[in-house]
Amino acid sequence: MGKPSCFFLSILELALHNNSRKMEVTSAVGDLQKRIKSLQLKPLGFVPTMGALHQGHLSLVRKAIDECPLAVVSIYINPTQFNDKDDLKNYPRTIQSDLELLGSVLRKNDIVFAPDDKEVYPEEDNRVFHFGNLDKVMEALHRPGHFNGVAQVVSRLFDIVKPDNAYFGLKDFQQLAVIKELVKQTGSNVRIIGCPIVREPDGLAMSSRNRFLEKEIRKKAPVIYKTILNASRMITERDIPEIKGYVRKTIEKEKGFSLGYFEIVDDSELIPVKEVKEMEFTKHYFGCIAVKAGKIRLIDNIEITMG
Ligand code: PAJ
Repeated sequence: MGKPSCFFLSILELALHNNSRKMEVTSAVGDLQKRIKSLQLKPLGFVPTMGALHQGHLSLVRKAIDECPLAVVSIYINPTQFNDKDDLKNYPRTIQSDLELLGSVLRKNDIVFAPDDKEVYPEEDNRVFHFGNLDKVMEALHRPGHFNGVAQVVSRLFDIVKPDNAYFGLKDFQQLAVIKELVKQTGSNVRIIGCPIVREPDGLAMSSRNRFLEKEIRKKAPVIYKTILNASRMITERDIPEIKGYVRKTIEKEKGFSLGYFEIVDDSELIPVKEVKEMEFTKHYFGCIAVKAGKIRLIDNIEITMG
């Protein structure tokens, strides 16, 4: 497990010091729990994040505020969910601007929890979760161990914060399904609330990684959403192999873009559908895409309705 760098800690200290915002900011589990207990406000809403915040994250925070008299937002870059250590090292750390953004939406009592590794994992977390098909398709194939790490940190954070409601973005569609399953398996009472994808004006799904896109690649990146939007409309007339072919051809026509996968799956078991005739009217389906755009891997998805 990676240790927090001194650099990150000193930035956090500086940010805490300069934080003239109304909300509380703490990095200690004990302080957080004391504060939550003394406030006695229910339901308690929780938004876990890894920082590098944008309007997508803020949409979850706003929903938590709308629905809960007390909201906790965590900022923690969880080392156990990174299968690529360079990715962990290079993950954007922007605590100062994160606190400024949160200061613009959080209320006086709301809390930002920005712990270090020792607070979250006083001991190494060796738990292994089994999510059946959920961690055998799409992102799981590309990022071995990723969802186990997500489950470790989310269950730790739930134990620490003890929220009533927890807010997650549909942007990370597979993660949301894994967390719903985690809650089921652990018998937790946390209500998991999925929130819609927030997009840039040109359609690109907001992501902490978009800042790394090279200029030319960023210009062409809206092709991802446009393509899955067209794919979702094709479902009434074309079968899935043809739609998949269209998606691959359209994405790979753009210089610097290659398709990781495009799968149409249901939203609970995430079983890829091979032909339209397999689709059931009682289920919800999503077209999920992963694209390598220059050096950056982007994911997106769209609901597929049968009309
Ligand atoms: P992070 O990538 O920071 O995302 C935090 C939350 O914001 C996730 O629920 C994610 O789905 C949501 N989100 C990101 N971009 C969004 C967008 N464009 N529209 C709507 N919601 C969006 O996901 C993680 O962190 C971590 O895996 C975490 C759950 C915090 C565990 O470490």
